[in-house]
Amino acid sequence: MAKDTVILGIETSCDETAASVVINGREVISNIIYSQIEIHKKFGGVVPEVASRKHVENIGRVVEKAMLESGYKFDQIDAVSVTYGPGLVGALLVGLSYAKGLAYSIKKPLVGVHHIEGHICANYLNNTDFKPPFVCLVVSGGHTHLVLVKDYSVYEIIGKTRDDAAGEAYDKIARALGLSYPGGPNIDKLSKDGDPLSINFPKPYLDKDSYDFSFSGLKSSVLNYINKCNMTSENVDKYNVAASFQNSVVEVLVNKTIKLCKEKKYNTIALAGGVSCNTTLREVMKNECDKNGFYLKVPEPIYCTDNAAMIASSGFFEFSKGNISSFELNAYPNLILGQR
Ligand code: KG4
Ligand code: ZN
Repeated sequence: MAKDTVILGIETSCDETAASVVINGREVISNIIYSQIEIHKKFGGVVPEVASRKHVENIGRVVEKAMLESGYKFDQIDAVSVTYGPGLVGALLVGLSYAKGLAYSIKKPLVGVHHIEGHICANYLNNTDFKPPFVCLVVSGGHTHLVLVKDYSVYEIIGKTRDDAAGEAYDKIARALGLSYPGGPNIDKLSKDGDPLSINFPKPYLDKDSYDFSFSGLKSSVLNYINKCNMTSENVDKYNVAASFQNSVVEVLVNKTIKLCKEKKYNTIALAGGVSCNTTLREVMKNECDKNGFYLKVPEPIYCTDNAAMIASSGFFEFSKGNISSFELNAYPNLILGQR
C-alpha cells in the first residue's frame, strides 16, 4: 500500500485564520478555524487592516493547535500548503510568510494554493469516492464561478460574475435590511418565513447563451424597493424581501448550472464556497438534479465557508503532481483560477 501523504494547510485570505492536517487530500485529521466575524461585525463588513493584524496575533497558536490535535509531529508531515491568492493582500501575506518560515525551518516543501481551487477541493474531504469530472458552481463572498473540473487540479472556467459575487449581494441586501454581517445566513433564515413570489425582482440571466453572472442590477433593484418603502412610510416586509431576493439568485444559479451540465454532457454537479451553505440553493439544486438524473455533491457546511482543510486537500493534489512552490512565492490578490 502506498505511503500516506500528510499535508498541513494554512488559510488567511479573508477573515478566518485556519490550519488543518489532512491525509491524502481527503481525510481530515484536525481542522482549526479562528473566525474574526465578531470583530468585523461592528463595522458591517471585513476591515482589511484589522483582519491582517488579527491573523498576525493568531496564526501561531492556530497552527500549533492543528498540529497538536492531529497527533503528528512537524517531521511527519510531507508539505506545508498555503493560500497565496485571491484575497486581501495583507491577510494573504500573513499566512504565506508564516508558511514559508515554517516550511523552511522544518525542511519541508511549500505548496501555494489558489483559494477557489481550495473551495472546489472541499468536495473531496471526508469522502473516499468523489472524483472528477464534474461541473462546480463556486459561490463565495468574493467569487461566483461556473467551472468544469476535468481532472484533479484541471479547471476550465466557463462563466463568472461580471460585477458583484452572489455572497457580496447577500451581504449588501442584508445590511440594507438591518441584519448583521455576514448577511447570507441571516437572509437564509428570514426567507423561510417569507413568500418568494411576493415581490417580482429581476432575474439576471444576461444573454441567452451566457454562463456569466451579474448580481449588481438585482441588488440595486432590491435596494430601490427598500428605499421606496422607507420614503413612502410603507412597511418593509423583511421576510418577503429576503425570500424574493433569494428566489431570483437561486433560480439563476441553478438554471445556469443545470444548463451547463446538460450541454457538456456531464452527470455530476458540485457546490463550493460560503453561499453553498444556503438551504434553499441546496434544496432547489437537489430537486433539479433529481429531475435531470444528475448526482449532486455538496460539502459539509463547515467546509463550505473558509477553512484550511480545503487548502490542504488542494495542496495534496498539487504536491502529487510535483507542483512545489519556491520560497520567492508572492501573494496575488487577483489570482485567476487555474493559473499558477
Ligand atoms: O467562501 P466564503 O467563506 O468566503 C469567501 O471566500 O468569500 O463565503 C462567505 C460568504 C459570505 O458572503 C456569506 O454571507 C455567505 O458566504 N454565506 C451564505 C450562507 N452562509 C454563508 N450565503 C447565503 N446563505 C448562507 N446560508
Ligand atoms: Zn472563501
